[in-house]
Amino acid sequence: MENAEEDCAQFYDNNIASIMEQSCVSCHSGQAPSANLKLDSYSYVRNTIESIIDRVNREEGSSGIMPPFGAKLELEYLDLLQEFYSMECE
Ligand code: HEC
Repeated sequence: MENAEEDCAQFYDNNIASIMEQSCVSCHSGQAPSANLKLDSYSYVRNTIESIIDRVNREEGSSGIMPPFGAKLELEYLDLLQEFYSMECE
């Protein structure tokens, strides 16, 4: 179901920004972000959510999984990202 812009932005602020901050932004922000991909704002994350869903759900230890080092994201966070994806924000 397509959601209103403000609902999307609020869901991002409440649930997604902290996940990005904790696990992704160290590489995906600043002057030279990894893969030339920034993940430190609502619009960047919204625009890349399909690719994000792909990468974070790969099998632990497999090629291309994000984050590339350390543990796979917790199930709770994967569920929140999935929910954000299903909101069909644009
Ligand atoms: C230690 C640094 C680092 C961290 C932390 C990190 N990434 Fe990455 N990311 C990379 C690098 C390097 C690439 C390019 C290589 C590749 O595509 O696998 C990449 C590629 C990607 C891509 C593919 C971009 C494209 O153009 O295809 C996505 C999506 C992505 N990361 C999302 C994330 C998410 C979401 C997180 C947090 C859960 C995250 N990354 C955490 C370094 C990182």
